[in-house]
Amino acid sequence: MIKKCMFPVAGYGTRFLPATKAMPKEMLPIVNKPLVQYGVEEALDAGLYEIAFVTGRGKRTINDHFDISYELEHQIAGTDKEQYLVGIRDIIDRAVFSTTRQREMKGLGHAILTGETLVGDEPFGVILADDLCFNEGGDSVMAQMVKVFRQVRCSIVAIEEVPEDQIHKFGCIDGEAVRDDLFRVTNMVEKPRKEEAPSNLAIIGRYILTPDIFDILRRTPPGKNGEIQITDALLQQARDGCVMAYRFKGQRFDCGSVDGFVEATNYCYEHLYKRGKL
Ligand code: UTP
Repeated sequence: MIKKCMFPVAGYGTRFLPATKAMPKEMLPIVNKPLVQYGVEEALDAGLYEIAFVTGRGKRTINDHFDISYELEHQIAGTDKEQYLVGIRDIIDRAVFSTTRQREMKGLGHAILTGETLVGDEPFGVILADDLCFNEGGDSVMAQMVKVFRQVRCSIVAIEEVPEDQIHKFGCIDGEAVRDDLFRVTNMVEKPRKEEAPSNLAIIGRYILTPDIFDILRRTPPGKNGEIQITDALLQQARDGCVMAYRFKGQRFDCGSVDGFVEATNYCYEHLYKRGKL
């Protein structure tokens, strides 16, 4: 079954400048945890314990976060402050981390292709940590997708309905419904104008990909914004075989934008932190 999860974390995070000038966007905290830790927790919840980071320049603190900090451990050993490290210690014990670097930011598709060396010839999850997803009381979004993968055995993208005037920010799918939460993809467009969008079903930052995607990515020319788009490669994969789109249960916050980040912070503070769940 699937055990690997790729985290493309090489992006510049320009929407959060100047905060992201010397600090990765993925290390920005939502209450008391960096964004990327929520993503890794979701991967572990889904049984994906081999974590593969595709990083870039200035992202070293992501690796440091998932390593032991001896000075800190020594300093707080035996004090009541140790409780704050229980969660991250548990993650470090349960997961295995590997890293490669994307040298030039040529798009998400290019970042995923760069991660091939860490993933090899098996299906894998992809989590974009700036899409923060919660499904309180139920399976995490990646865990839901793993269950769907057991049934369909092909690449899956997570989707949600968005208002028509928002669709230009997303990859957009068209598809045939096979059940009310699952579509067989027939078309995909990256960041379409409202008039061009085939639906209001937007792709969010959760994928399960089969490894044939790498050969397709190698042949995919730069698309929108001159970047190698995973959406273009997935459309090819859908045409050659099958790609499914899964409407997940739960909610998503776009923490790559300031508004989404603040919403996520408020949600986590009210629903998780105040109830002792963070
Ligand atoms: P975004 O479109 O959010 O870009 O990338 P960004 O650089 O992170 O943020 P802004 O738009 O400048 O504020 C979506 C995801 O794809 C990764 C990013 O790290 C993010 O998780 N990505 C994007 C890469 O890893 N490499 C790329 O070349 C492009």
